Formats: sequence, C-alpha cells, structure tokens
Amino acid sequence: MEKKTVLITGSSRGIGAGCALYFAERGWNVVLNYSRKEPVELMDTLKEKGATFLCLQGDVSVPEDAERMVKEAVEAFGSIEALVNNAGITKDNLMLRMKAEDFRNVIDVNLTGSFLMTKAASSVMMKKRYGRIINISSVVGLRGNAGQVNYASSKAGIIGLTKSVAKELAKRNITCNAIAPGFIETEMTDVLSDKVKESILGEIPSGKLGKTEDIAQLAYFLASEESSYITGQVIAVDGGMSM
Ligand SMILES: NC(=O)c1ccc[n+]([C@@H]2O[C@H](COP(=O)([O-])OP(=O)(O)OC[C@H]3O[C@@H](n4cnc5c(N)ncnc54)[C@H](O)[C@@H]3O)[C@@H](O)[C@H]2O)c1
Repeated sequence: MEKKTVLITGSSRGIGAGCALYFAERGWNVVLNYSRKEPVELMDTLKEKGATFLCLQGDVSVPEDAERMVKEAVEAFGSIEALVNNAGITKDNLMLRMKAEDFRNVIDVNLTGSFLMTKAASSVMMKKRYGRIINISSVVGLRGNAGQVNYASSKAGIIGLTKSVAKELAKRNITCNAIAPGFIETEMTDVLSDKVKESILGEIPSGKLGKTEDIAQLAYFLASEESSYITGQVIAVDGGMSM
C-alpha cells in the first residue's frame, strides 16, 4: 500500500510533536515544521524508529513560506494526504492592556497561518481528489477566556475557517475538521502558575489534564479514510470542560 504523507505545522514540540510521532509510528511519511529551533531530539527519535520524514523551517504566517513548505513536501513524498494546522502562539493580556500588535500577531500565526497552509495544501489535494485538513482550535475558541481576546478570537476564527473550507471542498473528497483541545500538558501550558492550573482543573469534569496523545489519536482518525463522512465538525477533546 502507498504510504500517506502528513504535514504538521509547529511540530517541533508539544501537541504537534506528539502528532508527528503518532503518525510516524503508524507508517506515514511525516513533514515536520518548525519556526525557530530545529527539533533535533524529535528528529533523532524519528530516525531511531525508522520513520520517513522531512523537517522544514518556515513561518506559517508568511505566504511564501507556506507555499514553499507544501512544494518541498510534495517534491519529497509526491503528495500530501493530510494537513494538521497546529502551529499556535499566545500573547496573553487583559483586553484594556493588550497592544494592537499583540492582537494582530496572534491572529496572524494562529488564523492567517492556518488559512495560508490550507490554501497551499488544498490545491495539491484537489488534484488528487483526496485530502484531510485538521485544524487545532481550542476550548477557548468555544467559550472565550478573560486575558486571551486575541487567542480566543483566533481559535473561534479557526472554527469559521474550518466550516467554510469544509463546504468549499466537500465535493472534492476533502474533509476539514477542527479539534478543540481543553487543557493539554505542554510547554505552552507549563508557563501557567500552579494556582491557575488548579482553578482550570476544577473546571474539568474528568478531573485530569489532557495529554498530547489524546489529540494525536483524534487527528489520526480524522486523517484516515474511515472518517470520510465527517466534515465541518468541531470536536472537543477536553475531559468535558466545554459541556
Ligand atoms: N496545550 C494546550 O492546552 C492547548 C489547548 C488548546 C489548544 N492548543 C493549541 O494546540 C496547538 C499546539 O499547542 P502546544 O500546547 O503544543 O503549544 P507549543 O507552544 O508547545 O507549540 C506550538 C508550536 O507552534 C510553533 N510555532 C509558533 N509560531 C509559529 C509560526 N509562525 N510558524 C510555524 N510554527 C510556529 C512553535 O515553534 C511550536 O512548535 C496550538 O495551536 C495551541 O493553540 C493547545
């Protein structure tokens, strides 16, 4: 059987790296993307596992980078069957203190970056009449969050992007879905104080934090042929937090 290829943005660490390992362990070609620091350890792990992968530097919010990364992935592996738009940043502050630049910056990476990568990859998927686009939103995009107007807006925007792309591409056998993680243990959430973590924990019915594999497992299913009749959906993986 022909190997499938997944491109995962922001996969140098956290959820993206977790997804990369999960797909690689199941025989996919994996295209890693980092913006600043080459993920040397992750690459060593993938090599040890005998995975086929490519690691590309690129900023998802820069149109030329998005196009170049898709081109290089196709040159290496022939096609892209799945795209996971995972790259994301936070620049938290209360709304009244937030600088316009910090609002724009977060929208640029999280939302515009997802749009640019989707646009570039979907032209490849349309030719093949097959594709799976998986966008990483957030529970915060569903519920809002004090101190995160920029981040919540970007993650809510990703939901609109997901549904619109799903409608535009459904007839081409390309699905587009969003995953809305709750609180997942990564470097992004490590920076929160113990007090904040405790209060978040109090809001999670299952009483525990999520792991990167919790997201990787769903991303993998949404990238599979078996999920072909699911599109335009937002699926929360949050221990019941958004109920
Ligand atoms: N951790 C959580 O609890 C949680 C919850 C909900 C949603 N999310 C979302 O999941 C995704 C991954 O989160 P994480 O916790 O692994 O975060 P993380 O900070 O550990 O990883 C984010 C990754 O994105 C990359 N990145 C940042 N800007 C980029 C750019 N311009 N171009 C390319 N790559 C860039 C970073 O280098 C990093 O590899 C993000 O979109 C985040 O918003 C995380």
